[in-house]
Amino acid sequence: MAQPRYRTPKGTHDALPEDHQYMTYIKKAVRHRARQAGYRRIDTPMFEDRAIFERGIGEHTDIVEKELFLVGSKEKDGDEKEFALRPEFTAGICRSYIENGMHQLPQPVELYAIGQCFRHDRPQKGRYRQFHQFDLEVIGLKDPSIDAQLIQLVCNIFSDIRISDRLVLHVNNIGSAQNRAEFIEALKDFFIGKERNLPEVDRERLQTNPLRLLDSKEEDTMIILKSAPLFNQFLDEESKAYHATFLDYLNELEIKFQENPKLVRGLDYYTQTVFEFQDKETGAQNAVGGGGRYDGLIELLGGNPTPGVGFAGGMERMVWHMKQAGVKAPHRDQVDVFVAQLGPEAKKKCLRLITELRNKGVHTLGALGEASLKSQMRLADKFQARYTLLLGKMEVKSETVILRDMAAGKQKEIKFGQAIEEVIKLIGEENLDTYTIRDRFVEVDED
Ligand code: HAM
Repeated sequence: MAQPRYRTPKGTHDALPEDHQYMTYIKKAVRHRARQAGYRRIDTPMFEDRAIFERGIGEHTDIVEKELFLVGSKEKDGDEKEFALRPEFTAGICRSYIENGMHQLPQPVELYAIGQCFRHDRPQKGRYRQFHQFDLEVIGLKDPSIDAQLIQLVCNIFSDIRISDRLVLHVNNIGSAQNRAEFIEALKDFFIGKERNLPEVDRERLQTNPLRLLDSKEEDTMIILKSAPLFNQFLDEESKAYHATFLDYLNELEIKFQENPKLVRGLDYYTQTVFEFQDKETGAQNAVGGGGRYDGLIELLGGNPTPGVGFAGGMERMVWHMKQAGVKAPHRDQVDVFVAQLGPEAKKKCLRLITELRNKGVHTLGALGEASLKSQMRLADKFQARYTLLLGKMEVKSETVILRDMAAGKQKEIKFGQAIEEVIKLIGEENLDTYTIRDRFVEVDED
């Protein structure tokens, strides 16, 4: 077969209908659990002023330094790239909180988002340049119970999509901004005279973002780090107490976790609680999601000092886990009825029949080409239709239609006027796809 001329750009992929069944299922779980807990949906633009990410996430993080997709604006002269595709939701949501005066709403403001993010990562398994996150943010109040409840919500979602058993929750507290500054100083001091033993990449990190050394994958760095100062030696009493209460609440909620003093996460805005759901088998490399507290971010972006905590999960990685775990995403893509016909009169009658079946909530496909009845039946089989309605010239004359149960291989002739009623009886009223009408559009299927 000839090679296709065009392919998806490197690091991107098509979400094919089979994948959507999983994505839709995850989205449903997210929406359902978020609504239960009072979260409301927000959508921010896919691109924003690049400074929001540079300031918010941190200029010397991998996400900003290496992975931002910069976007130019044609309205301007020259090629000054002032926007960036969002690599995550948090910074944009905080921008929106400030811009829309959400501090006037009852606090905390609980928001959730689902959508695409972009990172110019080196593509590899589970690491894409365009991927989906679902994101949860609680802004405006600081309390360890909020952190614990957020994690509980995430656990419920993982349990709904049946991947909990495959994940381990790691938690840590990285203290206040001041604790961090002191720790960074100590870390820099510790490395004086040892720089030469560090691999190039970590020597650079030592200059730009020394905290990142803690989760370095470089063997030489890991060996040196064994005698480095530990973060918890620099935590102030308040942070220690905060963390102890947080762990207490996790226990109260019967959430299993593992304390991980090395967990720092790759974004600069974090303070206090950080957490990550890691793959039991491969560990940190392909975390399914992570989050933490960011009490300085809103102020950094120009708002009043406002605490916040949040989480984001990578949906492609969740789909991968669901498939690995053999989870079949329940979906409603089945074909209930296939309508086969022969001759111009039959075709005309079928057009109406198909429309009516669909309006009643029966998933209906119709072969309206000119193929023989036999090949139409083969098609019905390929679509795995549960029933076929067959209308040939004879049936048109006698005002009947043949109803065939595809699995049983049995068929009977019935009155044309009774076809819809009969099909609905077989499928069951409760299985009709009419929810938008039943619920008066209260619950629409969002993206
Ligand atoms: P993050 O750890 O950078 O955190 O990303 C969250 C999750 O997004 C990751 O655990 C992973 O599952 C998924 N992810 C990240 N990059 C990729 C990629 N290139 N390909 C596929 N999946 C990926 C954040 O984004 C923070 N905004 C989380 C947060 C919300 N913190 C507070 N509020």
